[in-house]
Amino acid sequence: MSRHYAGDCHGSSRNTGLVILATFLFIHGGLGQRVKVETEVLSYPGQTVNLRCSFNDPSGIQLTQVTWIYEPVEGERVNIAVYHPNFGAHFPETPLKGRVTFVTNPPSLPNPSIQISDVKMSDEGKYICEFATYPSGNELGTTSLIMLAKPKNTAESVTAVAGTKPAVVARCQSANGRPEALISWVTTANGNASTVPKTGADNMVTVVSEYLLVPTAADNGKDISCVVTHRTLTKPESFPMKLAVEYPPMVTIIGYDNNWYVGRTNVELTCQANGNPHPTTVKWRILTGEMPDTVVIKEAKLTVLKVDEAVNTTFICEVKNRLGTGKEQVTALVREWCSIRYQPPPRLCSGSAEPPGC
Ligand SMILES: *[C@@H]1O[C@H](CO)[C@@H](O)[C@H](O)[C@H]1NC(C)=O
Ligand SMILES: *[C@@H]1O[C@H](CO)[C@@H](O)[C@H](O)[C@H]1NC(C)=O
Repeated sequence: MSRHYAGDCHGSSRNTGLVILATFLFIHGGLGQRVKVETEVLSYPGQTVNLRCSFNDPSGIQLTQVTWIYEPVEGERVNIAVYHPNFGAHFPETPLKGRVTFVTNPPSLPNPSIQISDVKMSDEGKYICEFATYPSGNELGTTSLIMLAKPKNTAESVTAVAGTKPAVVARCQSANGRPEALISWVTTANGNASTVPKTGADNMVTVVSEYLLVPTAADNGKDISCVVTHRTLTKPESFPMKLAVEYPPMVTIIGYDNNWYVGRTNVELTCQANGNPHPTTVKWRILTGEMPDTVVIKEAKLTVLKVDEAVNTTFICEVKNRLGTGKEQVTALVREWCSIRYQPPPRLCSGSAEPPGC
């Protein structure tokens, strides 16, 4: 198959992929801080999480009370658990009431860790463990609770028709994930991705990324991969695909050697066509008049059994597919005898009286 159309379209390989690896940090509270908490805690919905908190080295300090404060991603801070050695534990009216408890019973003031059962997506946010102390005042430590949901990732290549405007050629979706998934593309095609995240019910994020390209015939069959990176995946998930671009047939005629002389036998022209979908019909005709009797056509191949003046004409090959017709033509020049212009191999005929036989 001729691939001449691809000639100037093979640009340098451009890796549009971008891989960001999530890093997990488990650093204990700030330097010099006496309140020790975990920086970050990860959980799936339905699990029970432990939020640890302790007051380091309480010597010389009077701990009077501890308060756990919840700060949602959006919204106001609320107290969710309070403990005072004299008055006991108290859990104010909040969406967490009934699911939050101190880990020890009775609670311990220097170690007032809590646990939250049946965590929900909406429990995501910051949890602050705050001590009321004397004489230094309030001291606190903050833990971020990150809720996780494993997204369902899918990808598809979208058939486009070659043209001059950008079209969607591939689509990738990461549905109902938490946190938001990162989608990147790896391809040598010269297009752009457009990525839109949407937060749905229960804070789940669906990310849809579309790869846009001004589709050309040369893009047909090119490799493209969508890569989804997410905290719940140990390694990025890759979806390899092939671009599908439809285009009308592109036609070439091969076999004309510029040496058709009267009397030469069995010269051939072949019509080669490339198209997507694959071309269905190949048709040979000549510029004017009827196809000469000396010509035999078998599908893409045209054979001149014996060259004479009748084939001193222009041959046209037309090829059709669903998208249109492509054509190419060759003008044959019939000579009285073989030409010195025919190369290679360069040979001269010995004399004008001699019959052609180079
Ligand atoms: C891709 O993005 C760049 C810059 O954002 C823009 O100039 C270019 O036209 C875009 N190409 C396509 C095919 O959308
Ligand atoms: C073929 O046509 C060309 C002009 O198009 C002419 O010069 C040449 O003599 C022709 N050949 C024959 C064999 O008639």
